Amino acid sequence: MSARKSIAQIQHEAATSQLDRTLGKWHLLLIGVGCIIGAGIFVRTGSAAALHAGPAVLLSFLIAGGVCAFAGLCYAEIASTLPVSGSAYTYGYATLGEFVAWTMGTLLLLEYGLAASVVAVGWSGYVVNLLADVGLHIPPEITGPPGQMLDRGGTPVMAIFNLPAFLVCLALTALLTRGLSESAKLNNLVVMIKLGVLAAFIIVGAFVALPHIQDLVSRNWTPFIPANQGDGKFGIDGIMRAASIVFFSYIGFEAVSTAGQEAKNPEKDLPFAIIGSLVVCTVIYTLVAAVMTLLLPYGSLDVPEPVALVVDSFGGGWTWLAAPIKIGAIIGLTSVVLVLIYGQTRIFYAMARDGLLPRIFAAVHPKFRTPHINTALVGTLTALAAGLCDLNLLGDMTSVGTLAAFAIVCVSVIYLRRAAPDLPRGFSTPFYPLIPLLGIGSCLYLITTVPWDVLAFFFWYMLAGLLLYFVYGIRHSHLRSDGAEP
Ligand code: ALA
Repeated sequence: MSARKSIAQIQHEAATSQLDRTLGKWHLLLIGVGCIIGAGIFVRTGSAAALHAGPAVLLSFLIAGGVCAFAGLCYAEIASTLPVSGSAYTYGYATLGEFVAWTMGTLLLLEYGLAASVVAVGWSGYVVNLLADVGLHIPPEITGPPGQMLDRGGTPVMAIFNLPAFLVCLALTALLTRGLSESAKLNNLVVMIKLGVLAAFIIVGAFVALPHIQDLVSRNWTPFIPANQGDGKFGIDGIMRAASIVFFSYIGFEAVSTAGQEAKNPEKDLPFAIIGSLVVCTVIYTLVAAVMTLLLPYGSLDVPEPVALVVDSFGGGWTWLAAPIKIGAIIGLTSVVLVLIYGQTRIFYAMARDGLLPRIFAAVHPKFRTPHINTALVGTLTALAAGLCDLNLLGDMTSVGTLAAFAIVCVSVIYLRRAAPDLPRGFSTPFYPLIPLLGIGSCLYLITTVPWDVLAFFFWYMLAGLLLYFVYGIRHSHLRSDGAEP
């Protein structure tokens, strides 16, 4: 269980990598921003404000950004020490051993696989809204998870399945199976579209709000922190609960570290890109949240497409802007689903190559050179979760899994400093050990703000993962049979 991949071997693999080192620091920063901006800001901000924090969701964004910055500094240190392609799974294998690596794999399935479902549900919300604008009304029964009550012209109807979310996952899986990989140029274009949409939203929103600012502040921002109603609703508790929800919107910054082998100067550029993309997104998110909560009463924002709702309220000469903003959001969300499914398949691929998952996950298609069976399985799982599950449950599970994964990365930094103090580090987390400890503490604290039923679900999920390790992983691990470091 504590068998480790040797760090020297990992560094050697990195040094002899066949991949071209072509990515500069701005490229890496754009990769980060590309993975970060998605359903978190376009979808989950609405319910976080409406149900938990009110206008003070701005503070929730700052808190969640701070938690990510602690974890991000730890990621930056590990990524600059072990600049391998891969993810926290590989870092876990090299530091805390196989069992932790397996646990990381289980958590990353929540961070990538389930997050893809959340973003697909958000995608569905925006597509349904846009189609309704052009007169195409999709029956509400097939736009939500079973049991969710939706509205059809004032009459409540019960949804049975979220068909658009299901279909987009399958369509992107088909693309990935045929070998549509991330192209840096395409990524740059999509990032520009996402940034353009949010910039337009902020600027036009401010333009609409400023002439009536006093009125809007007294109407929608007073009180800025609504009184605590218990159960994570408003007050300080609500701000913290909302922080664990909007934490979702920062997930993805660590994707920068997966490009370690293709970075021109990983030691300096990875930390720059990780922290830089977090800062850029925190500023954007806070401004977007400010516009949203100023222009509409926070209670009305609990919809799957809050940005679209606010754009529709701009009124005046701005109605033309609604369609481009919604289309931009849809393009942005599509790219995030794609990247998340892609990431998930590559983690399963790495685990199968290490023997921790059945070999079938590492099987490569003879013509397309992609892990096609793995991709089909991941895509189907993601599509079913998107079609059948409630957005809030999926989002909370993703946040909890990711927070736990971040906490383990912070522990790895402490471990590595003690076990291998002389290892060359391109970047060292400042104020060691304070930052990793704050990272661990704040991640664990945010986990406790999530409802108990989600935590119970998480517990059973992890237990099932654990069983699978003892039934399968531990017996088939290549590292153990090859004679690894004890
Ligand atoms: N941070 C990503 C999003 O908000 C996962 O969609």
